[in-house]
Amino acid sequence: MSIGNRLSAVIEILDSIGKSALFADVGSDHAYLAIEVMKRSLADAAIASDINELPLMKGRENAELQGVDLEFILSDGFDAFDGRDVTAAAICGMGGELIARIIERSGIARRAELILQPMSHQEHLREYLWSNGFEILREIFVTEADKHYTVMHARYLGTNSDYSYLDLYLGKERAKSDAFCAYCKKICESALKRRLGIVARGGDTEDIDGLIEFCQTQTTSF
Ligand SMILES: C[S@@+](CC[C@H](N)C(=O)[O-])C[C@H]1O[C@@H](n2cnc3c(N)ncnc32)[C@H](O)[C@@H]1O
Repeated sequence: MSIGNRLSAVIEILDSIGKSALFADVGSDHAYLAIEVMKRSLADAAIASDINELPLMKGRENAELQGVDLEFILSDGFDAFDGRDVTAAAICGMGGELIARIIERSGIARRAELILQPMSHQEHLREYLWSNGFEILREIFVTEADKHYTVMHARYLGTNSDYSYLDLYLGKERAKSDAFCAYCKKICESALKRRLGIVARGGDTEDIDGLIEFCQTQTTSF
C-alpha cells in the first residue's frame, strides 16, 4: 500500500505532533491514512469516518487486508462522534468550503490538532481559520501526479489573526521549494482568469495584481 506525496505530508505533520491518543480520519474513503497512522504507531487508536457507507466498506476491507484495527463511523463530519475524545483529526481530499463547514459544526475541531488538505478554495479555508480563532502553524506544499496541493497543520487558539490577500492565496510561510513554485504557478493561472472578470466589472485589480506579480517572481524558473 503506497500513500503518495499528499498523504505522506499529512503523516509528516502527524509525526511532528507526536503520538495521538485518538486519531480521526474524517472523509476516510479507502482509509489509507488511518491505516498508515496505525502502522507507524502514530496513534494509540484511530477512527475512519465517512458520510457514505460504500467508502466505509472499502476502508474496512483495506484495514482487514493490512491487519490494522480501526473503528469505522458513518458520520457527516464529526456529527456522529458522540463525545469521543479525538486528539488529532485529518480532513483531507475535500473542498475548502466543506472542510470549513465541518470544522465550524464541531467542538472536536476546537480541541484537536487539525491536519487539513483542501482540494479547492484554499483561500476560503485560510480565511475561515484566521477569522475564527484558529492558527495555521505550518503548511507543506506538495506535488503528486502533476497536481499541486497544500497540507495545513491548524489548531484552535481562540484569537483571530490578521492576514493579507497574498496570505489567503499562498499561506503565510511561502518558503521557496519546487512544490511551492508549482503551487504558485497554479494560483497564478487562476488569478489571471479571475482578473479578466474583475476588469470586465470595472473592479479594483490592485490585490490580484500583487498576487500575480508575486507568483510570477516565484515561477521564473519554470
Ligand atoms: C476524495 S475522498 C478523500 C479521501 C481521503 N481523505 C484522501 O484524502 O485521500 C473524499 C471523501 O470524503 C467523504 N465526504 C464527503 N463529505 C463528507 C462529510 N461531510 N463528512 C464525512 N465525509 C465526507 C466522501 O464520501 C469521500 O469518501
